Amino acid sequence: MSRLIRALIDTGALRHNLATIRARAGGARILAVVKANAYGHGLVQTALALAQADGFAVARLEEGITLREHGVSQPIVLLEGVFTAEQLREAARHELELVVHDALQVHLLEADAAGHRFRLWLKIDTGMNRLGFRPEQFPEALRRLKRLSAPPLEVRLMTHLARADDSPEMTRRQLECFSETIRGHACATSIANSAGVLGGMPVGGEWVRPGLALYGASPFADCAAEDLDLRPAMTLATSVIAVRFVPRGETVGYGGAWRAKRDSRIAIAAVGYGDGLPRGLLNGTPVLIGGRRAPLCGRVSMDMIAVDVTELGQVEVDTPVVLWGAGLPVEEVARCAGTIAYELLCGVSQRVPLELR
Ligand SMILES: Cc1ncc(COP(=O)(O)O)c(C=O)c1O
Repeated sequence: MSRLIRALIDTGALRHNLATIRARAGGARILAVVKANAYGHGLVQTALALAQADGFAVARLEEGITLREHGVSQPIVLLEGVFTAEQLREAARHELELVVHDALQVHLLEADAAGHRFRLWLKIDTGMNRLGFRPEQFPEALRRLKRLSAPPLEVRLMTHLARADDSPEMTRRQLECFSETIRGHACATSIANSAGVLGGMPVGGEWVRPGLALYGASPFADCAAEDLDLRPAMTLATSVIAVRFVPRGETVGYGGAWRAKRDSRIAIAAVGYGDGLPRGLLNGTPVLIGGRRAPLCGRVSMDMIAVDVTELGQVEVDTPVVLWGAGLPVEEVARCAGTIAYELLCGVSQRVPLELR
């Protein structure tokens, strides 16, 4: 038995997707979003592969520090900022940039006796209702930042789009709210995520913040990644570890969730929810067996799945299996689990080795 579960990371695809995004970004600079272990692709290796990015964005302080410790020298933005004086010091020590989305964070900066200086990204909530100052709170927040005893290196303004993938109307309202709120302030801005960059509506801003598209998945339900000139960066691959005959009428796996309607050949592949494959995947979810599609049958177990290969002919122990990636879009598999590509990619578990190509 040669190759069991692994995630093959195509660094050429990462670079290609960055170039695709750059071509669509209207001259904006690119903060590559590499939070959550670069959406499962490996934080450090992804950032190193994306050396042409103008900066990186992460969610947590530890992610930023890890990037610095591995020699990443581009700007790194902490999308949630910091929450304690200790974190503030650490962020300064590693020259990280801070999103400021709450009065508590303004207060931390005001109370910083050591006078650390940062590039700050003041976040305005234009309708997402998650993080950010409401428009009426913005002028006061900006005034306080500009009056810090250790003045910021720069203040940039940002917001986040809630429905750039499916509601031009909502996006239009958010853009109007943002431009009205910041009117008269000559600061660089950042608005667009992947859907904001690749959607039909020009969103503007000097910086864009794509995540999902870098990894080669489409943010839109009605438009395939291929049609956006994006290539899948992760292929989740394993092998067949057994092939068995299941007579008509018998069931396969826990709960007997699949019953053979005919005499069937069933391939067992070494991947399960212990690797991050959702247990909720439906019977019939496509799996590539030796490069050809075959339907999942029965429940996903912790370490194994069963696939009906009756129609495929030659399938044996060691035949390669692909769960998603090249030849099988992760978005399609996500739909079969009632979720989104983001969750599948981020959910690849720690026991799955990442192999760079
Ligand atoms: C603030 C912020 N900007 C950008 C992104 C990237 O979004 P996407 O992966 O949809 O491009 C995210 C992702 O959740 C985010 O939270």
